[in-house]
Amino acid sequence: MIPPIKPAVDILVGRPSIIQGMTVLTLGVHIVDVLARPVESIPAGQDTHLVEQVRITAAGAAAGTAVDLARLGVPVASAGAVGDDELGDFLLMIMARHGVDVAGVARKSGEQTAASILPIRPDGGRPSFHVPGANLGFALADLDPARVLGAKLVHLGGMDASWGLHDPAFFALLDEARAGGTIITMDLLSNMPDLMPAAKVFLPHLDYFLPNEEQALMITGAATVEEAATALLAEGLTAALITLGAHGSLVATAEGTTHIPALDIEVVDTTGCGDAYCAGFIAALTNGRSVIAAAELGTTVAARVAGGLGSDAGLKDARNLLSDAGGPGLDAGPDKALKALSDAGGSGLDAGPDKALKALSEAGGSGLGAGPDDALNALSDAGASGLDAGPDKALKAQSDAGGSGLDAGPDDAPNTLSD
Ligand SMILES: Nc1ncnc2c1ncn2[C@@H]1O[C@H](COP(=O)(O)OP(=O)(O)OP(=O)(O)O)[C@@H](O)[C@H]1O
Ligand SMILES: [Mg+2]
Repeated sequence: MIPPIKPAVDILVGRPSIIQGMTVLTLGVHIVDVLARPVESIPAGQDTHLVEQVRITAAGAAAGTAVDLARLGVPVASAGAVGDDELGDFLLMIMARHGVDVAGVARKSGEQTAASILPIRPDGGRPSFHVPGANLGFALADLDPARVLGAKLVHLGGMDASWGLHDPAFFALLDEARAGGTIITMDLLSNMPDLMPAAKVFLPHLDYFLPNEEQALMITGAATVEEAATALLAEGLTAALITLGAHGSLVATAEGTTHIPALDIEVVDTTGCGDAYCAGFIAALTNGRSVIAAAELGTTVAARVAGGLGSDAGLKDARNLLSDAGGPGLDAGPDKALKALSDAGGSGLDAGPDKALKALSEAGGSGLGAGPDDALNALSDAGASGLDAGPDKALKAQSDAGGSGLDAGPDDAPNTLSD
């Protein structure tokens, strides 16, 4: 049973947020991804190369998974930390637009929101430039324990890069939630060997672990994925799901090991495939499916994401994916969940861009000075930064030749949302 929870205040809409009835909490890394494709090389000197597409998305092992879950029709809240900068405004707005309850995302004064710039190669390869920013400082003090204890499932996203949560009190909170029936899942963010020992300490507190191949090998020290799966199960997991990129995934439970092939699709960009796999898995699992059926939905959702640019590509009509998959436990199917969420007010899944933009501008906007019209312009221009600069500041910035920072001026552009 999910205990009753005191509603928190949603920072975007300024009224109680929806954590009653919330089924999934994604907790951890929040990143803004800026992607461009196709990119073969960095232009020489000051040259400009034209590309076909540029996108900005909510990504990272917690935020990206939350958006995908919302697209699948699963009521979801996210917890983590972003800066009090424009990137943070953008990230929260994007997540809220998709229907994620972001009231539990802390704003860290003076810190940079984590961000990646991803020039996507013609073959879908994704080198990146990354700043970890506020994620590193997200700590137990930023977290409302009721959100963890009240969730049907808590997905830990990127504990290798959430150093503030390497805290015995956090492990105790996870154990308390598990004792109350909450399922705990975990995915990692990095491929850095130095960060794996810190992630390994979470294993005894999990039910399901969904690393990629590289992470599974590093965290266990095993030579093969099969050995890694065996070692992970020995930590007490119900299942280890090791994703293998284009080769699919290996699902290991006490009953045995199953290979789930990836779908044969035309790949555009694999950014966020791991997060999408987690979202599909979690959506199915929390709707009563078997581990294998859940891994199959994860595979389907990941293939959708790989077919377009960005971590939420291909998920426009994704609510059908969960109901199409059939099976037991769909009594609270996507439609009912969506209705419950929107009935409860807040940034409901059906709120759509207009409501989200209105909410943002009512809350003071991202320094846009901002009524709905301005905010709409900002969105269609796909870039809030610099829109509040005005001609004078823009000219000054240009003459200063200080890069593209039209909003870089002194603190004369108050950020009312974060304030
Ligand atoms: N080229 C591809 N074609 C089809 N499906 C793919 C492809 N690449 C990845 N996938 C799907 O996405 C799943 C997760 O991919 P992968 O193992 O690359 O995750 P990851 O490395 O954790 O990614 P991320 O960096 O997004 O977390 C795979 O199990 C597979 O189902
Ligand atoms: Mg991953």
